[in-house]
Amino acid sequence: MKKLVVLPGDGIGPEIVQQTLTVVDALRTRFDLALETSEHAFGGAGYDAAGKPLPDETLAACAQADAVLMGAVGGPQYDTLERDLRPERGLLGLRSALDMFSNLRPAMLYPELAAASSLKPELVAGLDIMIVRELTGGIYFGGPRGIEVRDGVRTGFNTMVYSEPEIERIAHSAFAVAMARGKRLCSVDKANVLEVSELWREVVTRVGADYPEVELSHMYVDNAAMQLVRDPRQFDVMVTSNLFGDVLSDCAAMLTGSIGMLPSASLNSDGHGLYEPVHGSAPDIAGQNVANPLAAILSLAMALRYSLGEAAQADRIERAVGEVLAQGLRTADIANGADAIGTAEMGSAVVAALN
Ligand code: IPM
Ligand code: MG
Repeated sequence: MKKLVVLPGDGIGPEIVQQTLTVVDALRTRFDLALETSEHAFGGAGYDAAGKPLPDETLAACAQADAVLMGAVGGPQYDTLERDLRPERGLLGLRSALDMFSNLRPAMLYPELAAASSLKPELVAGLDIMIVRELTGGIYFGGPRGIEVRDGVRTGFNTMVYSEPEIERIAHSAFAVAMARGKRLCSVDKANVLEVSELWREVVTRVGADYPEVELSHMYVDNAAMQLVRDPRQFDVMVTSNLFGDVLSDCAAMLTGSIGMLPSASLNSDGHGLYEPVHGSAPDIAGQNVANPLAAILSLAMALRYSLGEAAQADRIERAVGEVLAQGLRTADIANGADAIGTAEMGSAVVAALN
Protein backbone atom coordinates (compact mmCIF):
# COMPACT_ATOMS: atom_id res chain seq x y z
CA MET A 1 0.00 0.00 0.00
CA LYS A 2 1.22 3.53 -0.80
CA LYS A 3 2.41 5.57 2.16
CA LEU A 4 1.64 9.21 2.87
CA VAL A 5 3.56 10.82 5.70
CA VAL A 6 1.76 13.77 7.25
CA LEU A 7 3.60 16.63 8.98
CA PRO A 8 1.07 18.99 10.60
CA GLY A 9 3.77 21.41 11.79
CA ASP A 10 2.94 24.72 13.47
CA GLY A 11 0.44 27.56 13.57
CA ILE A 12 -2.57 26.78 11.39
CA GLY A 13 -0.77 23.66 10.08
CA PRO A 14 -2.44 21.16 12.45
CA GLU A 15 -5.99 22.39 11.84
CA ILE A 16 -5.77 22.49 8.05
CA VAL A 17 -4.06 19.10 8.00
CA GLN A 18 -6.80 17.70 10.22
CA GLN A 19 -9.39 18.72 7.60
CA THR A 20 -7.24 17.20 4.88
CA LEU A 21 -7.19 13.91 6.78
CA THR A 22 -10.99 13.91 6.95
CA VAL A 23 -10.89 14.04 3.14
CA VAL A 24 -8.48 11.07 3.11
CA ASP A 25 -10.84 9.16 5.42
CA ALA A 26 -13.81 9.88 3.19
CA LEU A 27 -11.90 8.72 0.10
CA ARG A 28 -10.96 5.52 1.93
CA THR A 29 -14.43 4.66 3.16
CA ARG A 30 -16.52 5.89 0.24
CA PHE A 31 -14.21 5.57 -2.76
CA ASP A 32 -11.86 2.65 -1.92
CA LEU A 33 -8.68 4.70 -1.67
CA ALA A 34 -5.88 2.44 -0.43
CA LEU A 35 -3.46 4.72 1.39
CA GLU A 36 -1.61 4.40 4.66
CA THR A 37 -1.03 7.64 6.58
CA SER A 38 1.14 8.42 9.60
CA GLU A 39 1.78 11.70 11.41
CA HIS A 40 5.18 12.93 12.54
CA ALA A 41 6.54 15.92 14.43
CA PHE A 42 8.17 18.62 12.29
CA GLY A 43 9.11 22.29 12.43
CA GLY A 44 8.56 24.01 15.76
CA ALA A 45 6.57 20.94 16.80
CA GLY A 46 9.63 18.84 15.98
CA TYR A 47 11.75 21.07 18.16
CA ASP A 48 9.23 20.79 21.00
CA ALA A 49 9.05 16.99 20.69
CA ALA A 50 12.63 16.07 19.92
CA GLY A 51 14.82 19.18 20.23
CA LYS A 52 15.21 19.78 16.50
CA PRO A 53 12.96 20.86 13.65
CA LEU A 54 13.59 17.74 11.57
CA PRO A 55 13.76 14.85 14.07
CA ASP A 56 15.64 11.75 12.82
CA GLU A 57 12.52 9.63 13.14
CA THR A 58 10.56 12.10 10.99
CA LEU A 59 13.24 12.21 8.30
CA ALA A 60 13.40 8.39 8.23
CA ALA A 61 9.61 8.18 7.80
CA CYS A 62 9.67 10.78 5.00
CA ALA A 63 12.47 8.96 3.21
CA GLN A 64 10.34 5.79 3.10
CA ALA A 65 7.11 7.48 2.11
CA ASP A 66 5.71 7.79 -1.40
CA ALA A 67 4.60 11.31 -0.59
CA VAL A 68 4.85 13.76 2.28
CA LEU A 69 2.10 16.24 3.08
CA MET A 70 3.11 19.20 5.21
CA GLY A 71 0.89 21.81 6.86
CA ALA A 72 3.06 24.81 7.69
CA VAL A 73 6.02 25.62 9.91
CA GLY A 74 7.18 28.54 11.99
CA GLY A 75 6.01 30.78 14.79
CA PRO A 76 7.24 33.71 16.86
CA GLN A 77 8.15 31.49 19.81
CA TYR A 78 10.81 29.85 17.62
CA ASP A 79 12.30 32.99 16.07
CA THR A 80 14.85 33.48 18.80
CA LEU A 81 16.23 29.93 18.62
CA GLU A 82 19.68 29.36 17.29
CA ARG A 83 19.45 29.44 13.47
CA ASP A 84 19.90 25.68 12.94
CA LEU A 85 17.04 24.90 15.32
CA ARG A 86 14.48 27.14 13.67
CA PRO A 87 11.49 25.53 11.94
CA GLU A 88 12.43 26.95 8.51
CA ARG A 89 15.72 25.07 8.72
CA GLY A 90 13.77 21.84 9.14
CA LEU A 91 11.91 22.55 5.93
CA LEU A 92 15.07 23.40 4.02
CA GLY A 93 16.72 20.28 5.48
CA LEU A 94 13.84 18.06 4.38
CA ARG A 95 13.77 19.46 0.83
CA SER A 96 17.50 19.00 0.59
CA ALA A 97 17.74 15.55 2.23
CA LEU A 98 15.11 14.14 -0.13
CA ASP A 99 16.56 16.05 -3.11
CA MET A 100 13.21 17.66 -3.92
CA PHE A 101 14.72 20.03 -6.46
CA SER A 102 11.66 20.83 -8.56
CA ASN A 103 9.03 22.96 -6.89
CA LEU A 104 5.77 23.40 -8.77
CA ARG A 105 3.73 26.37 -7.61
CA PRO A 106 0.53 26.88 -9.55
CA ALA A 107 -1.21 30.24 -9.42
CA MET A 108 -4.67 29.81 -10.82
CA LEU A 109 -7.75 31.86 -10.28
CA TYR A 110 -11.07 30.24 -9.57
CA PRO A 111 -13.61 32.29 -11.54
CA GLU A 112 -15.78 32.62 -8.39
CA LEU A 113 -12.90 34.38 -6.62
CA ALA A 114 -11.96 36.99 -9.23
CA ALA A 115 -13.19 39.77 -6.93
CA ALA A 116 -10.77 38.68 -4.19
CA SER A 117 -7.73 39.54 -6.33
CA SER A 118 -6.01 42.84 -5.70
CA LEU A 119 -5.86 43.33 -9.47
CA LYS A 120 -8.83 44.28 -11.62
CA PRO A 121 -10.94 41.22 -12.51
CA GLU A 122 -10.39 41.82 -16.24
CA LEU A 123 -6.62 41.47 -15.76
CA VAL A 124 -6.81 38.18 -13.87
CA ALA A 125 -9.90 36.38 -15.21
CA GLY A 126 -8.79 32.92 -16.29
CA LEU A 127 -5.30 33.28 -14.83
CA ASP A 128 -3.40 29.97 -14.82
CA ILE A 129 0.36 30.14 -14.29
CA MET A 130 2.79 27.48 -13.12
CA ILE A 131 6.01 28.61 -11.50
CA VAL A 132 8.75 25.98 -11.47
CA ARG A 133 11.21 26.99 -8.77
CA GLU A 134 14.60 25.34 -8.29
CA LEU A 135 14.46 24.32 -4.64
CA THR A 136 17.66 22.69 -3.45
CA GLY A 137 20.39 24.96 -4.78
CA GLY A 138 21.23 28.58 -5.45
CA ILE A 139 21.82 31.15 -2.77
CA TYR A 140 19.75 29.22 -0.21
CA PHE A 141 22.35 26.48 -0.01
CA GLY A 142 25.48 27.94 -1.59
CA GLY A 143 28.72 28.48 0.27
CA PRO A 144 30.64 30.26 1.54
CA ARG A 145 28.01 31.85 3.74
CA GLY A 146 28.06 33.51 7.11
CA ILE A 147 28.58 36.63 9.12
CA GLU A 148 32.15 37.50 10.00
CA VAL A 149 34.39 40.41 10.85
CA ARG A 150 36.42 41.64 7.88
CA ASP A 151 38.98 44.33 8.63
CA GLY A 152 37.08 45.23 11.76
CA VAL A 153 33.71 45.46 9.96
CA ARG A 154 30.92 42.91 10.52
CA THR A 155 30.03 41.50 7.12
CA GLY A 156 27.28 39.13 6.01
CA PHE A 157 27.64 37.04 2.85
CA ASN A 158 25.95 34.30 0.83
CA THR A 159 26.78 32.66 -2.47
CA MET A 160 24.49 32.17 -5.44
CA VAL A 161 25.81 29.10 -7.18
CA TYR A 162 24.44 26.72 -9.83
CA SER A 163 26.26 23.93 -11.62
CA GLU A 164 25.36 22.91 -15.17
CA PRO A 165 23.74 19.61 -14.05
CA GLU A 166 21.59 21.46 -11.50
CA ILE A 167 20.35 23.85 -14.18
CA GLU A 168 19.85 21.03 -16.68
CA ARG A 169 17.60 18.98 -14.39
CA ILE A 170 15.36 21.88 -13.37
CA ALA A 171 15.16 22.94 -17.02
CA HIS A 172 14.09 19.44 -18.11
CA SER A 173 11.51 19.41 -15.35
CA ALA A 174 10.12 22.79 -16.45
CA PHE A 175 10.04 21.88 -20.13
CA ALA A 176 8.16 18.69 -19.25
CA VAL A 177 5.61 20.73 -17.30
CA ALA A 178 5.29 23.14 -20.24
CA MET A 179 4.74 20.22 -22.64
CA ALA A 180 1.80 19.09 -20.48
CA ARG A 181 0.31 22.61 -20.44
CA GLY A 182 0.37 25.53 -22.88
CA LYS A 183 3.87 24.81 -24.29
CA ARG A 184 5.25 28.22 -23.38
CA LEU A 185 8.14 28.56 -20.95
CA CYS A 186 9.64 31.79 -19.65
CA SER A 187 12.99 31.44 -17.91
CA VAL A 188 13.62 34.17 -15.36
CA ASP A 189 17.13 35.28 -14.43
CA LYS A 190 19.38 38.30 -13.86
CA ALA A 191 21.81 37.59 -16.69
CA ASN A 192 22.54 41.29 -17.22
CA VAL A 193 24.34 41.38 -13.86
CA LEU A 194 25.05 37.88 -12.50
CA GLU A 195 27.42 35.29 -13.97
CA VAL A 196 25.38 32.53 -12.38
CA SER A 197 22.41 33.76 -14.43
CA GLU A 198 24.49 33.92 -17.58
CA LEU A 199 25.19 30.21 -17.22
CA TRP A 200 21.54 29.57 -16.31
CA ARG A 201 20.35 31.21 -19.53
CA GLU A 202 22.89 29.37 -21.66
CA VAL A 203 21.99 25.96 -20.21
CA VAL A 204 18.21 26.49 -20.33
CA THR A 205 18.54 27.50 -23.98
CA ARG A 206 20.58 24.39 -24.73
CA VAL A 207 18.09 22.09 -22.99
CA GLY A 208 15.34 23.79 -24.97
CA ALA A 209 16.68 22.19 -28.16
CA ASP A 210 15.25 18.89 -26.83
CA TYR A 211 11.76 20.45 -26.68
CA PRO A 212 11.22 22.09 -30.08
CA GLU A 213 7.47 22.36 -29.46
CA VAL A 214 7.93 24.61 -26.44
CA GLU A 215 8.27 28.32 -27.09
CA LEU A 216 11.10 29.47 -24.79
CA SER A 217 11.58 33.07 -23.72
CA HIS A 218 13.89 34.74 -21.19
CA MET A 219 13.14 37.61 -18.85
CA TYR A 220 15.09 39.50 -16.22
CA VAL A 221 13.64 39.02 -12.77
CA ASP A 222 12.86 42.69 -12.14
CA ASN A 223 10.89 42.85 -15.36
CA ALA A 224 9.19 39.54 -14.54
CA ALA A 225 7.98 40.97 -11.22
CA MET A 226 6.60 43.97 -13.08
CA GLN A 227 4.96 41.87 -15.80
CA LEU A 228 3.30 39.64 -13.20
CA VAL A 229 1.31 42.57 -11.87
CA ARG A 230 0.93 44.35 -15.23
CA ASP A 231 -0.32 41.50 -17.42
CA PRO A 232 -0.02 38.15 -15.64
CA ARG A 233 -1.89 36.15 -18.26
CA GLN A 234 1.02 36.47 -20.69
CA PHE A 235 2.69 33.62 -18.74
CA ASP A 236 2.13 29.89 -18.97
CA VAL A 237 5.09 28.24 -17.21
CA MET A 238 7.93 30.18 -15.58
CA VAL A 239 11.18 28.54 -14.47
CA THR A 240 13.62 30.22 -12.14
CA SER A 241 16.18 29.85 -9.39
CA ASN A 242 15.47 29.28 -5.71
CA LEU A 243 15.52 32.88 -4.45
CA PHE A 244 13.81 34.46 -7.48
CA GLY A 245 11.17 31.72 -7.33
CA ASP A 246 10.54 32.37 -3.65
CA VAL A 247 9.76 36.01 -4.38
CA LEU A 248 7.87 35.61 -7.65
CA SER A 249 5.70 32.78 -6.35
CA ASP A 250 4.37 34.88 -3.47
CA CYS A 251 3.63 37.66 -5.94
CA ALA A 252 1.85 35.26 -8.32
CA ALA A 253 -0.07 33.73 -5.42
CA MET A 254 -1.45 37.09 -4.43
CA LEU A 255 -2.78 37.67 -7.95
CA THR A 256 -5.24 34.89 -7.31
CA GLY A 257 -6.78 36.70 -4.38
CA SER A 258 -5.97 34.12 -1.79
CA ILE A 259 -2.74 32.48 -0.98
CA GLY A 260 -5.02 30.22 1.11
CA MET A 261 -6.10 28.45 -2.08
CA LEU A 262 -2.74 27.42 -3.50
CA PRO A 263 -1.07 24.03 -3.21
CA SER A 264 2.48 23.16 -4.22
CA ALA A 265 4.55 20.12 -5.01
CA SER A 266 8.29 19.56 -4.64
CA LEU A 267 9.50 16.58 -6.62
CA ASN A 268 12.70 14.60 -6.78
CA SER A 269 13.89 12.73 -9.85
CA ASP A 270 11.96 9.53 -9.08
CA GLY A 271 8.55 11.12 -8.50
CA HIS A 272 8.56 11.20 -4.72
CA GLY A 273 7.14 14.47 -3.53
CA LEU A 274 6.71 16.87 -0.69
CA TYR A 275 3.34 18.61 -0.88
CA GLU A 276 2.56 21.78 0.99
CA PRO A 277 0.29 24.80 0.83
CA VAL A 278 2.05 27.89 -0.51
CA HIS A 279 0.89 29.87 2.53
CA GLY A 280 2.70 29.93 5.85
CA SER A 281 1.77 29.07 9.42
CA ALA A 282 -0.21 32.29 10.11
CA PRO A 283 0.33 32.17 13.88
CA ASP A 284 -1.96 35.19 14.34
CA ILE A 285 -5.03 33.15 13.39
CA ALA A 286 -3.92 29.70 14.57
CA GLY A 287 -6.37 27.64 16.59
CA GLN A 288 -9.34 29.92 15.86
CA ASN A 289 -11.03 27.79 13.19
CA VAL A 290 -10.75 30.59 10.62
CA ALA A 291 -7.89 29.36 8.39
CA ASN A 292 -8.66 28.21 4.87
CA PRO A 293 -7.99 24.45 4.57
CA LEU A 294 -8.35 24.39 0.77
CA ALA A 295 -4.66 24.84 -0.08
CA ALA A 296 -3.84 21.84 2.11
CA ILE A 297 -6.69 19.81 0.65
CA LEU A 298 -5.57 20.72 -2.89
CA SER A 299 -2.00 19.75 -1.91
CA LEU A 300 -3.38 16.30 -1.10
CA ALA A 301 -4.90 16.24 -4.58
CA MET A 302 -1.49 17.06 -6.09
CA ALA A 303 0.09 14.27 -4.02
CA LEU A 304 -2.51 11.79 -5.26
CA ARG A 305 -1.88 12.87 -8.86
CA TYR A 306 1.91 13.21 -8.97
CA SER A 307 3.24 10.69 -6.42
CA LEU A 308 0.50 8.23 -5.49
CA GLY A 309 -0.84 7.21 -8.89
CA GLU A 310 -4.42 8.17 -7.96
CA ALA A 311 -5.38 10.77 -10.56
CA ALA A 312 -9.09 9.93 -10.38
CA GLN A 313 -9.14 10.59 -6.63
CA ALA A 314 -7.28 13.87 -7.27
CA ASP A 315 -9.93 14.88 -9.82
CA ARG A 316 -12.60 14.03 -7.26
CA ILE A 317 -11.07 16.41 -4.70
CA GLU A 318 -10.57 19.22 -7.20
CA ARG A 319 -14.17 18.88 -8.41
CA ALA A 320 -15.40 19.00 -4.82
CA VAL A 321 -13.42 22.19 -4.13
CA GLY A 322 -14.89 23.79 -7.26
CA GLU A 323 -18.32 22.68 -6.08
CA VAL A 324 -18.08 24.25 -2.60
CA LEU A 325 -16.89 27.53 -4.15
CA ALA A 326 -19.81 27.41 -6.58
CA GLN A 327 -22.12 26.90 -3.58
CA GLY A 328 -20.81 30.24 -2.31
CA LEU A 329 -18.99 28.81 0.72
CA ARG A 330 -16.04 30.97 1.76
CA THR A 331 -13.53 31.11 4.58
CA ALA A 332 -12.71 34.61 5.83
CA ASP A 333 -9.65 35.09 3.58
CA ILE A 334 -11.75 34.74 0.41
CA ALA A 335 -15.08 36.08 1.69
CA ASN A 336 -14.34 39.65 0.65
CA GLY A 337 -16.22 40.93 3.70
CA ALA A 338 -19.26 38.66 3.23
CA ASP A 339 -20.29 35.83 5.57
CA ALA A 340 -17.56 33.28 6.20
CA ILE A 341 -17.48 29.71 7.44
CA GLY A 342 -14.77 28.13 9.58
CA THR A 343 -11.93 25.74 8.84
CA ALA A 344 -13.83 22.65 10.00
CA GLU A 345 -17.02 23.64 8.18
CA MET A 346 -15.08 24.12 4.95
CA GLY A 347 -13.47 20.70 5.40
CA SER A 348 -16.88 19.09 5.98
CA ALA A 349 -18.31 20.85 2.93
CA VAL A 350 -15.54 19.41 0.74
CA VAL A 351 -16.12 15.93 2.19
CA ALA A 352 -19.85 16.28 1.48
CA ALA A 353 -19.17 17.39 -2.10
CA LEU A 354 -16.96 14.39 -2.96
CA ASN A 355 -18.66 12.19 -5.50
C1 IPM B 1 8.56 29.17 0.90
C2 IPM B 1 9.00 29.76 2.20
C3 IPM B 1 10.32 29.12 2.59
C4 IPM B 1 11.33 29.45 1.53
C5 IPM B 1 10.82 29.50 3.99
C6 IPM B 1 9.80 29.20 5.06
C7 IPM B 1 12.12 28.82 4.31
O1 IPM B 1 9.07 31.14 2.09
O2 IPM B 1 8.36 27.93 0.86
O3 IPM B 1 8.43 29.91 -0.07
O4 IPM B 1 11.91 30.55 1.54
O5 IPM B 1 11.55 28.63 0.65
MG1 MG C 1 8.36 31.89 0.24
